[in-house]
Amino acid sequence: MEAKIAPSMLSSDFSNLASEAHYMLQCGADWLHMDIMDGYVTMLFFAFTIPSCFCSMNDMMHFVPNLTIGAPVIQSLRKHTTAYLDCHLMVTNPLDYVEPFGKAGASGFTFHIEASKDNWKEIIRRVKAAGMRPGVSLKPGTSVDEVYPLIEDEEPVQIVLVMTVEPGFGGQKFMPEMMDKVRTLRKKYPSLDIEVDGGLGPSTIELAASSGANCIVAGSSIFGAKEPAEVISIFRKSVEG
Ligand code: DX5
Ligand code: ZN
Repeated sequence: MEAKIAPSMLSSDFSNLASEAHYMLQCGADWLHMDIMDGYVTMLFFAFTIPSCFCSMNDMMHFVPNLTIGAPVIQSLRKHTTAYLDCHLMVTNPLDYVEPFGKAGASGFTFHIEASKDNWKEIIRRVKAAGMRPGVSLKPGTSVDEVYPLIEDEEPVQIVLVMTVEPGFGGQKFMPEMMDKVRTLRKKYPSLDIEVDGGLGPSTIELAASSGANCIVAGSSIFGAKEPAEVISIFRKSVEG
């Protein structure tokens, strides 16, 4: 299958985002992976300081314990590149982000199934209407069956992102046990884009690729390498053979 290698810009120097993006493309990247996280440190703060009568539980809930970037950063980066911006939304209310990300110039909009159980149809519909490619992601604890309806719908997602670490931070250890999900998806949907994210590097790519993943996200192993182009080429060879 065709490989899509997507460096995670979370590991880049955010103060030089445009030049880091150009460098990755020069090194052979296909996509740029943008991690959007809504941060739950504030939730704990509010939970203990504001009486619940002033603030609904939903307002206080966030998806991951880290806060990264939003649509304005995508919009700024878009002015410097035509590359495919693969946006991974680790947020509790993905629907609220569809329009801003569409306007900002995002290419792919991948939301989490855990955050969209009641409204994924509406999200997919709006993502497509905004000119983006819809995708769904699942956390390590979520069963793969939960995404089947989104792949089999008449307006399906076009990519499934299997998290191979707990979402929130770069630089964590790859979870090989997630490969069962990748194998199951690949067997059931031979031409689906299956993306893996978290802990991918030269020592874990073989397992991911042979399990059936073709879209590879990697932050620390690419940005931490002396020669990022070599790491990208190892990934591509593992996927494409
Ligand atoms: C984690 C993010 C990943 C992360 C990957 O929540 O979704 O994209 O940046 O980083 P590495 O490759 O360092 O595990
Ligand atoms: Zn990601």
